[in-house]
Amino acid sequence: MKEKLKIGYVGMGGRGYGQMILSLDMDDIDVLAVCDVYDDRVKRALDKIREKRPDLAPEGYADYRKLVARPDLDAVVVTSSWQTHVRIAEAAMRAGKYTAFEVGGASSIEECWRLVRAYEETGVPCMLLENCCYGREELALLDMVKKNIFGELLHLDGAYAHDLRDEITGGLIRRHYRFRNFQRRNGELYPTHALGPIANMLNINRGNRFIALTSMATKARGLTEFAKNKYGADHEYAKMDWNEGDIVTTLIKCANGETIRLQHDDCLPRIYSRELTVRGTRGMYGEDGDRLMIEGLNEHVEGEWEPRWMKFKDELPKYDHPLWKWFQSAGVRGGHGGMDYLVQRAFFESVKNGTDTPIDAYDSAAWMSITTLSEQSIAMGSMPVPVPDFTNGLWIDRGPDPKSRYSLDAVHYDLFD
Ligand SMILES: NC(=O)c1ccc[n+]([C@@H]2O[C@H](COP(=O)([O-])OP(=O)(O)OC[C@H]3O[C@@H](n4cnc5c(N)ncnc54)[C@H](O)[C@@H]3O)[C@@H](O)[C@H]2O)c1
Repeated sequence: MKEKLKIGYVGMGGRGYGQMILSLDMDDIDVLAVCDVYDDRVKRALDKIREKRPDLAPEGYADYRKLVARPDLDAVVVTSSWQTHVRIAEAAMRAGKYTAFEVGGASSIEECWRLVRAYEETGVPCMLLENCCYGREELALLDMVKKNIFGELLHLDGAYAHDLRDEITGGLIRRHYRFRNFQRRNGELYPTHALGPIANMLNINRGNRFIALTSMATKARGLTEFAKNKYGADHEYAKMDWNEGDIVTTLIKCANGETIRLQHDDCLPRIYSRELTVRGTRGMYGEDGDRLMIEGLNEHVEGEWEPRWMKFKDELPKYDHPLWKWFQSAGVRGGHGGMDYLVQRAFFESVKNGTDTPIDAYDSAAWMSITTLSEQSIAMGSMPVPVPDFTNGLWIDRGPDPKSRYSLDAVHYDLFD
């Protein structure tokens, strides 16, 4: 086991900079290299490392190939734009570095295969940094599913529902990739915040898999309306055509008979939500209204037309995952309620122990493929499209993940004693 890790970050925009600062607060992590195509972002990152960790001698790069070639680095964390994740991750893996990359969908099916092939040919693990898999609610629900509290699962919903109109339309000013993606693509552009936790609950790639999907998009109105109000009716952003439909709905069918409904909803005024719903033969959870209903626990009272339900937030202490209980006692830290810290630790612990990552190349490929497959479906009038089996049959009888506190295929209570 490695006591300390030397790591490099590629992509020093908002997310990369924030996550790098979080890494700098970890005693066992030395950030020795940072990279961005913009000089000012490299400089800002180097300044921050020198301020927080004067013991380190970090180097800055404009070309990620130079960073991944450094023989001293143990791992590379890719926090760049969606369309650059895979090429950078593949280069890092082929240079022998454990690789983590931020969330986003794939631009092509070929990209997903490249991840899988890089992993199979080099044996170097990689991990999609899906922080929502480590959210408090998602972890509690995962534990409840593993304990069979909801019975057999039939259907799950999830969404990335976030009013990003200002960020998207201001993208060229802020040098942000979302602008061009929303201008030129039409599909489920950001599936994994919802799909990652759902895939863990459904044992995707371990006895189950996504087999096909169909996707449908509304017309695009929200960004034009917003741009008119913010920049004026004569501004080019108010006159341009946005391809991305305001609400994109995707239905996925799984090999074991479950269905998943995803929604991508960033272009209209709305309240943030991941809209997670879990439906099983014995109960349900619905983020909408924070409702938990378990047969036997919530009795149907004679004369009331609906069964009684509980507020999940009130019940959480009872259902918290042991990782969350440990995190609370150790001190919750990091953004997004702590999940940003846990997802980093999940990756770094795998690197230190030399094991596979809890979200691996097959998971990353399957989850990310939904973006490009939904684009294909929408382009063909919502035609169903098959989801490739990125495991080439391994899913049928794959063994468990390496046993860890951060495992997402099982909950190892004995590791928290
Ligand atoms: N998990 C989360 O909660 C969360 C939150 C925010 C963002 N993200 C993800 O983080 C990633 C980055 O998002 P962001 O908002 O910071 O974007 P950003 O545009 O602010 O930052 C991306 C950076 O990557 C750099 N970059 C692009 N191509 C590069 C290349 N070839 N070599 C080196 N640098 C390159 C860009 O110059 C930019 O500075 C995205 O995948 C996004 O989805 C995740």
